[in-house]
Amino acid sequence: MRIDVAACAVSAFIVFGASASMAVVDDGEPRAAAASEGGGADAASLIERGAKLYVRKCGACHSPDANRIGPRHEGVYGRKSGSVPDFRYTKALGALDIVWDEETLDEWLTNPSAMAPGTAMGFRVTDAEERKAIIAYLKTL
Ligand code: HEC
Repeated sequence: MRIDVAACAVSAFIVFGASASMAVVDDGEPRAAAASEGGGADAASLIERGAKLYVRKCGACHSPDANRIGPRHEGVYGRKSGSVPDFRYTKALGALDIVWDEETLDEWLTNPSAMAPGTAMGFRVTDAEERKAIIAYLKTL
């Protein structure tokens, strides 16, 4: 599907370029392709922002591919909490039986101690937009 959309956007571009006419939009396809291209760019810039925030805010304790003070984050999105096999979690996090998704990560980053009292992660992200960007980035790991 991705390829189809891309091909569509390319052909729409060619048609627009050649004829400089809006009539081609009538079948709706080029418009849809353009919209999804825009969405892609937005998503990409959100991820890019998240990646920068991750390095700045999480990087002291986490990395995508190695355990540090906190567990590695590779594959964290969609995985069960406390499930990196070679990381020693606190009992608090061990008892937290959830799957990391947009909602649970948002709650966690807002206030880990509220979600798992006694957790060793004492770091909060208070800005909702920042949490959103960081979560978008975590999804790619
Ligand atoms: C000061 C160190 C520190 C910082 C900064 C920090 N964390 Fe953590 N994080 C931890 C520790 C330690 C744990 C394990 C907690 C436990 O076992 O109770 C953890 C656990 C997690 C978990 C649960 C992982 C799992 O395998 O279940 C997620 C998700 C997480 N952190 C995300 C983040 C993100 C995203 C950031 C940056 C916005 C961040 N953390 C910043 C120390 C930190």
